[in-house]
Amino acid sequence: MPTPTPLPTAELHVHLEGTLEPEHVYALAERNRVRLPYADVADLRSRLDFTGLQHFLDLYYANMAVLRTEEDFADLTRAYLRRAARGGVRHAEVFLDLQAHTARGVPAEVVLAGVTDALAAAEREHGLSAGLIVTFLRHLPGDAALAALTEVLRLDAPLLGVGLCSSETGSAAPFRDAFALAAAHGLRRVAHAGEEGPAANVTEVLDVLGAERVDHGIRALEDDAVVERLAAEQVPLTLCPLSNVRLRVVRDLAAYPLRQMLRRGLRVTVNSDDPAYFGGYVDDNIRALTAALDLTADELATLARNAVDAAFVGDARRAELRAEVESWVRARRDEGA
Ligand code: ADE
Ligand code: ZN
Repeated sequence: MPTPTPLPTAELHVHLEGTLEPEHVYALAERNRVRLPYADVADLRSRLDFTGLQHFLDLYYANMAVLRTEEDFADLTRAYLRRAARGGVRHAEVFLDLQAHTARGVPAEVVLAGVTDALAAAEREHGLSAGLIVTFLRHLPGDAALAALTEVLRLDAPLLGVGLCSSETGSAAPFRDAFALAAAHGLRRVAHAGEEGPAANVTEVLDVLGAERVDHGIRALEDDAVVERLAAEQVPLTLCPLSNVRLRVVRDLAAYPLRQMLRRGLRVTVNSDDPAYFGGYVDDNIRALTAALDLTADELATLARNAVDAAFVGDARRAELRAEVESWVRARRDEGA
C-alpha cells in the first residue's frame, strides 16, 4: 500500500534543542571534544524514561553542552526542518532556549546566526516557511529574560516572537516586563502553561503576559471557567500528545482528552515539543493519536486548520497553507478515506 500523504500542517510548538537526537548528541560531542556522561548512544536512549517535567529538563539542558558553534546550531536546525518537511510540516515556528546557551558561554550572536541562517533557507531547501521564537526560561529571574531580549533586539536578529518555558513553578509575573518589551517591538507572544502546572497558570499568562497562544494548556480542563474563556476567546492551545504521555501528564494516548477539547470548542493543535526525547515528530504524534483515538479525516483536518489559523503568518501565506489543507481533504475524500 502506498504511504498516505501526511497531513499538511503548521508546527507551532517545537523546541529546537528538543530535536537533538541521541546520535546527533554523540556526533557533536566528538566534533567538539565534549565528554559525555553516558556509556554510549544506547545508554543515553535508555535514559529517555522520565518521571516528570523536571527529570526531562535535567537531561535536556545537560545534552545542550555539545552545541558550541554556529555550524552546530545550523546543522541542528537543518536536520529538524528536513525531518519536519518529510512529515507534512508546511510552516514551523521554532522555539530557541537562547539563555541556556549564553549561560554556558556560547555568545548569542553565534547561536542566532546558525539558527536564523538555516531558517531563512527553509523555503529553498525544504519548501516550508519558518520563524523563530526565543523562549525565556522560567527557572531564571525575569531580569535575565529582559536582558536576553535586549541583546536579541540589539543584534537585530529576525524574530517572530517570544515565549516562556522550562519548569512551571512560581508566578509568571516576573516576566511581565520582558513580554511588554516584546509587544512594544511588535513581537508575538506565547507561553507554556497548564502543562504540569494548574489551570490558574493559563489564566495568568493570558492576563499578565498577554500570551496569544498557550503552549500545552491541557490542565485548563480542570477548571470549567478557564475552558469557557479559552473557547470564547478562541485562544489556540499547542498540544503535544507524546510529550504529555512521556512526562506523565496523561496516562496514555487512549486517555488523551482531544475529543473532549474539540467538543468544548477549544482551538487545539498537535505538535511535537521535544521529538528526540518523546518518541516522535509531528507526524508521529498525529499517527499515534489517530491510532489511539480512531480520529477521522474531518477531525484531522480541523487540527490542521486550527494550526494554520493560529500560525503567525501573513494573509497570503495563510491562504496558501489553508489551500494545502483543503487539497489534502479533497484527496482523502476522492480516495474514499
Ligand atoms: N522546554 C523544553 N520542553 C519543555 C516542556 N515540555 N515544558 C516546558 N519547558 C520545556
Ligand atoms: Zn514545550
